[in-house]
Amino acid sequence: MNELNYKNKKLHFSKIDIESLAKKHKTPFFLYSEEILSNNYLQFAVGAESAGLIDPLICFAMKSNPNKDLVKILAKLGSGADIVSGGELKRALEAGIPPEKIVFSGVGKTEEEIVYALKLKGHLNSFNVESLEELELINATAKKLKKSARVCFRLNPVVKPKTHKFISTGNKTHKFGLLEQDILQSMGQNKYWSHTRLVGMSVHIGSQLLDLNATKRALVRLCEVALKIQAPLEFLDVGGGLGVDYHPDETHKLPRIDNYMQIIAMTFEKHFYSKSKLRPRVVFEPGRRIVAKAGIFVMKVLRNKISENNTFVIVDGGMNDFMRPSLYGAYHALIPVKEAKAEKECHVVGPICETSDCFGSNRMLPALKTGDLLILKDTGAYGYSMGSNYNLRGRPLELLVEKKQKLKVINKAQDYSDLT
Ligand code: LLP
Repeated sequence: MNELNYKNKKLHFSKIDIESLAKKHKTPFFLYSEEILSNNYLQFAVGAESAGLIDPLICFAMKSNPNKDLVKILAKLGSGADIVSGGELKRALEAGIPPEKIVFSGVGKTEEEIVYALKLKGHLNSFNVESLEELELINATAKKLKKSARVCFRLNPVVKPKTHKFISTGNKTHKFGLLEQDILQSMGQNKYWSHTRLVGMSVHIGSQLLDLNATKRALVRLCEVALKIQAPLEFLDVGGGLGVDYHPDETHKLPRIDNYMQIIAMTFEKHFYSKSKLRPRVVFEPGRRIVAKAGIFVMKVLRNKISENNTFVIVDGGMNDFMRPSLYGAYHALIPVKEAKAEKECHVVGPICETSDCFGSNRMLPALKTGDLLILKDTGAYGYSMGSNYNLRGRPLELLVEKKQKLKVINKAQDYSDLT
């Protein structure tokens, strides 16, 4: 599906004319598409079913985009949630996701958050435990509350995926997950298990993965350790991490959903199901693959600044609104809203007082003038959720194109009165 295309030389997103929209709403703003979001989720879910995976549960990684309206759309389609804070837990519940479809990840769960989760009416699918110290706290907290907690070990499989080092999580030097020996050593010790029950095992080795070799190795390790612990596991959780093609050069590398599901099905069959009587279901924690392509960021050109042979196109969106280029040097396509020949090399920069506040260097674009619109593509994941008020700028508006091209404000822009 082509989510972006020109009609009468004007850029449309999910069939909405961006220029007319920007006349009604102050830029910059995020614009999302319900159709793309739903299709991405359904493609993932159908892929898992078609590969014959056992009773798949898709837990949307809320950190990628916790907007309530978007999470509600996914909840209605059957999605669960992968959460990492009490805030995300509250949001998931408000969006209609029941506790039994929620996995609680993260290395720094606080006692307050554990209490909040344990006091819910239903049980979480699991606390995905990242250290023995955490497991001991969950056990002690459950004991105090006279409850029992469902827990899952997040295995650190000691693999190195090909991705940016800031979002690689599967190796010994990373703070995430437990090493095999620590998992095995905990078994049978009362201080961990008097008020907890081990119901699953998980891995998550990193994000924006386009090469699945490390993923395969991690899944094999997951099966090996899951067999060794000899617990009646209800699920195996494969984490998230599936990448998207931000750059056209990445399109040919993009793992297809059906291939990804096949890899999981074959690995689990060979390394787990064929060796065990257990039939644990498969849990997923995708974020980016579901929501990245469902959003764009619309900005207006404030002015051009020419310094010898450098042309800076200064836009009204900044790194506080969308951090990925400044934080990871990530590429996102910049597309003019009025169709014209790309004839000028320029740097598209924001108003923030940091040199890294740059959405693209040496990009070929049409000559752009004050008031012209430009979009940054594929900003649905890790966009608004990583934004801030840096430079005391208000957070931008979020808009949704609902089914039948109806528009809805799903988060208002902050104005000066909100900046207290
Ligand atoms: N599960 C766990 C335990 C995670 O830590 C993450 C992401 C996910 C699932 C979802 O991963 P995804 O399917 O979205 O790749 N801010 C970075 C990405 C950080 C990812 C953190 N963890 C970025 O903008 O690239």
